[in-house]
Amino acid sequence: MTKNQKTLSVLFILLFMTNSNKRVLKKGFKKLQLKTVERSCLILRKNIDRKTISLQMYVNQSLIQYSRDEDLFLDIQQMTDEEYEQFLKNKDNNIVNVESFKDDGDTSRFVFIIYSGGKSNHKTMQQEELIKILTNNPNITKYFEPFLGGFGSVYNSLSVLLKYGVKDIFLSDTNNSLVNCYRQVQRNPKIVQKWLASIDIEYFRLYGKYYPDTKDESKEWFEEIHRRFTELEKSKKMNPKRAAYFMYLNSNTQGGMLNFNMKTKLNKMHHSFCSKKVKRVPLLINKVEIFHKIFNMGNIKFSVCRYETVLKKVNNDTNSLVLLDPPYVKYEEEKTSDNILSCSYNYGINNFNHRQLLTKMKNSQCHFMYYNNHNPYIEEFSQKHSYKYIKKDVIYRNGKEGKKSVEIFMVKDNSKVTSNIVNNVDFFKEEVQKVS
Ligand SMILES: C[S@@+](CC[C@H](N)C(=O)[O-])C[C@H]1O[C@@H](n2cnc3c(N)ncnc32)[C@H](O)[C@@H]1O
Repeated sequence: MTKNQKTLSVLFILLFMTNSNKRVLKKGFKKLQLKTVERSCLILRKNIDRKTISLQMYVNQSLIQYSRDEDLFLDIQQMTDEEYEQFLKNKDNNIVNVESFKDDGDTSRFVFIIYSGGKSNHKTMQQEELIKILTNNPNITKYFEPFLGGFGSVYNSLSVLLKYGVKDIFLSDTNNSLVNCYRQVQRNPKIVQKWLASIDIEYFRLYGKYYPDTKDESKEWFEEIHRRFTELEKSKKMNPKRAAYFMYLNSNTQGGMLNFNMKTKLNKMHHSFCSKKVKRVPLLINKVEIFHKIFNMGNIKFSVCRYETVLKKVNNDTNSLVLLDPPYVKYEEEKTSDNILSCSYNYGINNFNHRQLLTKMKNSQCHFMYYNNHNPYIEEFSQKHSYKYIKKDVIYRNGKEGKKSVEIFMVKDNSKVTSNIVNNVDFFKEEVQKVS
């Protein structure tokens, strides 16, 4: 694999596609961004009581705040205040901002939402294994991820899949608010952006500032948004407002930890105060802009579904590749119950049955890749069936103290099922964070 392939990323492809003729500022852009946003703030204040217009202005202002497009700033500098006001009101400005975000390695990550167990740390390893499978099996035409979570592992795969012509990508999770969020950003990004803007604009109308300053203020606002979000979940409405609130709550929660109740289908998130995070609505608006483009690459379909249904569908399909990233088994646990029911973090979904999943994988005709914590039972299983078993030392940093663990990546490539236990401890030794 060449160096270029190693750093191949979705954003790079995007950049070439949408931005090849843009002049990107390398230096001095922060000053320009600040000056331009200060100017738009004054215009926005005059329009703050105009419901729809103020939201559109806030969306545009947020995109400008992160842009590094030299021509955009030159254009705005030459505008009169009236012209700039018209520009801010326009919903079709196409303010491209991909260059502002880094995405060029295993450590430099750009994530859509913060998610416990996100796999953006394993990009290089996952891409290498994926390339091997796709090279060995040119018949593969479909890709499935039934434990979608924070899109981290899909993100790792996406550029490689598209390069190898695998366009039909089926992504699912049992958490309906999570899936709604992806779907809305894929289909209705502008409305999601406006609902995000409404969070800060409403706060401004109430308190004369765009976001809370203190922990108490922030908690109170978080709980208000959570209350509205729960009402939407109860109403079962899959809409852009619910997606925007989900993104806001996720962004103000410790490590993106959520608790999803399988019975009630409700998510519970806990407030965590960070003076930077409360100011992140403009960043979230930018994420919607970028990930809308990413979610429309290839034929990506998002659905609410249990993994069992997906595996049933692909059971006899030799043209499918499935990446499985279930809730993790507890690393420390050497002796587990027969079904390995324990999870280090279960997303509120109790008693995930790991043995059942492994059995289904074994009986299936499709190819698969599988993440988990290292566990003696799983290693034994991989040896027995000649699946590749890659170990990777990691340090979880969810809080101050680092905690050692070993994560594994298991691969079943039907064209090449040979006994292949790889211990990559030295090669991969690195510190990574538990959360993406
Ligand atoms: C480890 S996370 C996936 C992380 C993801 N690969 C990433 O990189 O961000 C596991 C996900 O599985 C989902 N899940 C748990 N049990 C499930 C089930 N029975 N069917 C489908 N999804 C399930 C959870 O909601 C959670 O989002």
